[in-house]
Amino acid sequence: IANGVARTPPMGWSSWNHFQCNVDEWTVKTTADALISTGLAALGYKYVNIDDCWGEETRDEKGNLRAKSSTFPSGIKALADYVHSKGLKLGIYSSAGWTCSKQMPGSLRHEDEDARTFAQWGIDYLKYDNCYHDGSKNQARGQEDPATWAGRYGNAWRTTGDIKDSWDSITSIADVNNIWGRYAGPGRWNDPDMLEVGNGGMSLEEYRSHFSIWAAMKAPLLIGCDVRSVNKETLGILGNKEVIYVNQDPLGVQARKIRSENGLEIWAGPLSRRRVVVVFWNRASSWTAISVGWREIGLPSLTPVVVRDLWAHSFVSRNMLSRLSANVAPHGCKMYILTPY
Ligand code: DGJ
Repeated sequence: IANGVARTPPMGWSSWNHFQCNVDEWTVKTTADALISTGLAALGYKYVNIDDCWGEETRDEKGNLRAKSSTFPSGIKALADYVHSKGLKLGIYSSAGWTCSKQMPGSLRHEDEDARTFAQWGIDYLKYDNCYHDGSKNQARGQEDPATWAGRYGNAWRTTGDIKDSWDSITSIADVNNIWGRYAGPGRWNDPDMLEVGNGGMSLEEYRSHFSIWAAMKAPLLIGCDVRSVNKETLGILGNKEVIYVNQDPLGVQARKIRSENGLEIWAGPLSRRRVVVVFWNRASSWTAISVGWREIGLPSLTPVVVRDLWAHSFVSRNMLSRLSANVAPHGCKMYILTPY
């Protein structure tokens, strides 16, 4: 929707992938602090999003949602004030009948009052889940795929089930999210779910691929690990400025899988100022060469191109004429911006 926000994919952190229901106000505050001290906030990670399990099991006497007193004793408004004082934004979560954890009531038939509550608390971002919806339809006429309708109501919508911290999960999610590419654009993004980078279930090479493809697909970049104890390697991935710039490019076109043979994939898409992002993704289990010609990625052949490697942070060439090739590590990727001149 054209509501002035999310003109580029939202960036921040969400509590779910790492903490699930073990989230409390201390975790949220110290995560906000850590986003600042690590430098991640300055790179654009501004949303601090509380996912499921923040509320009491019952509404208050006026029928309003309320924060769980055992874990959020100061209340959500105080937390929003804190997060805002750091120059960050606070996100919250609700669902239909009950939230998916079944630990707190959802907003079905309480939509207006809950929206007012969130607004009064100073919430900047709402994630709305769809558990226990009581048979109510998402949308009339059986349009079940959110990409086809959700852009009229929100700025991003999930395209898949829940991500897991595994190679199988990220490869299959990438493939499904790819199908919906043409529905994405400024203010309306496909969401292949929050990042698992830093949670420990994948190799660095795999996490680099996960982050590169999510960035190129213009996914919301919501960190899903414990930012307070993030290590250097993880920070090197989440904090790769050049990859973040691809994600935040103002053109807002989702890169697509343009070729795939025996697990060797090429993903590409246009960026502003006639540039092109190209990702070579090796899903096979040995080092392999991958190569692409200009025509295949929408550039006239024999056009001189400046090729920048976004992980090596160096120029591969300042006048490459027709084709780019590279050796790619198993489960790894190479990511480039090509600038024709
Ligand atoms: C299902 C969603 O897909 C997850 O991201 C998370 O929000 C959980 N529900 C919370 O219960």
